[in-house]
Amino acid sequence: MSKLFQSTQLKEIMIPNRIVMSPMCQYVAKQDGKVTDWHKVHYGARAVGKVGLIIVEATAVEARGRITDQDLGIWNDDQIPGLKEIVDFAHKQGSVIGIQLAHAGRKAEISDRESVIAPSPIPFDQGFVIPKKMTEKEIEEVVQAFADAARRADQAGFDIIELHGAHGYLIHEFLSPLSNQRNDAYGGSREGRLKFLQEIVKAVKKVWPSHKPILLRVSATDYADGGIDLQEMIEMLKIVKTWGIDVIDVSSGGLVPARIEVGAGYQVKFAERIKEEVGIPTITVGLITEPELAEEILFNDRADFVALGRELLRDPYWPLHAAKKLNVDIEWPKPYERAKR
Ligand SMILES: Cc1cc2nc3c(=O)[nH]c(=O)nc-3n(C[C@H](O)[C@H](O)[C@H](O)COP(=O)(O)O)c2cc1C
Repeated sequence: MSKLFQSTQLKEIMIPNRIVMSPMCQYVAKQDGKVTDWHKVHYGARAVGKVGLIIVEATAVEARGRITDQDLGIWNDDQIPGLKEIVDFAHKQGSVIGIQLAHAGRKAEISDRESVIAPSPIPFDQGFVIPKKMTEKEIEEVVQAFADAARRADQAGFDIIELHGAHGYLIHEFLSPLSNQRNDAYGGSREGRLKFLQEIVKAVKKVWPSHKPILLRVSATDYADGGIDLQEMIEMLKIVKTWGIDVIDVSSGGLVPARIEVGAGYQVKFAERIKEEVGIPTITVGLITEPELAEEILFNDRADFVALGRELLRDPYWPLHAAKKLNVDIEWPKPYERAKR
């Protein structure tokens, strides 16, 4: 019996299989941050390919929170209709679809360099701007921007939102002592560094329907002395769990430049420890390309979902091909049935 193709329920959302399309920026939007034809075809193809849960790329909750000027945006209501087209098509194919809500913080490489903000005025690396330290008023504004974005995501019909707390972007910058050197309520202790995220979760929950799941993506380790390591992340997530986050999407790194040894399934060990010690469902990701590896991870309860990034760029129909390889009979899109064999 395949686990990869077993459906599962998160809150009231039934996900048809355990295959997740990892959020991946396409950098093809214009300054207005609106969905383009590329996005429609790109996400549509993965829905045709029977991905169970598609997570739309990092989408900026504020214009100054884009990674680049080409990022998708969800900071105004005019951006909703384009997103809704993606959602409606994915739903017609039977996929569940979520969106990653993001703010780049100090890693923003936008043309408006003056507006780059972060918890502390510490640049990511050489060549990056020195970010402006956020005032408490700016913190409040960004928290509200996340809530407004969640409301728009619901209006567009998304089933799930994922808060981007990984890869050195704004939420992660507050979490890590390497990028957060504030001595007010938003820094210092573990609780202080978690406060920005806590306020976002609280504000989002006021507008996001309670029957729809909220995911959080984290970097399990900063791979750097003085930063977050796996044990510290586990302790943080024990607190986060009490706020009502449904799934942790476990990635790693990105806060500071670091050398990372990668290989097939190299981040599974993080998802496994978090699942076990925090007692929360996890998504694992990172160089998972073979259906057999995906099955093994699920069978041994090392994660609840398996996300694919680049492999789904190479092969939008990966789930169809995986099912064939694993001898699982799944429904193909009707217009393609003659190709099923
Ligand atoms: C083109 C590209 C864009 C990405 N954009 C995002 C993003 O928007 N948000 C995010 O959390 N991770 C992003 N990532 C990381 C992926 O979601 C994924 O975690 C990473 O590629 C490892 O998985 P893989 O080995 O299956 O590709 C991106 C990766 C790629 C290759």
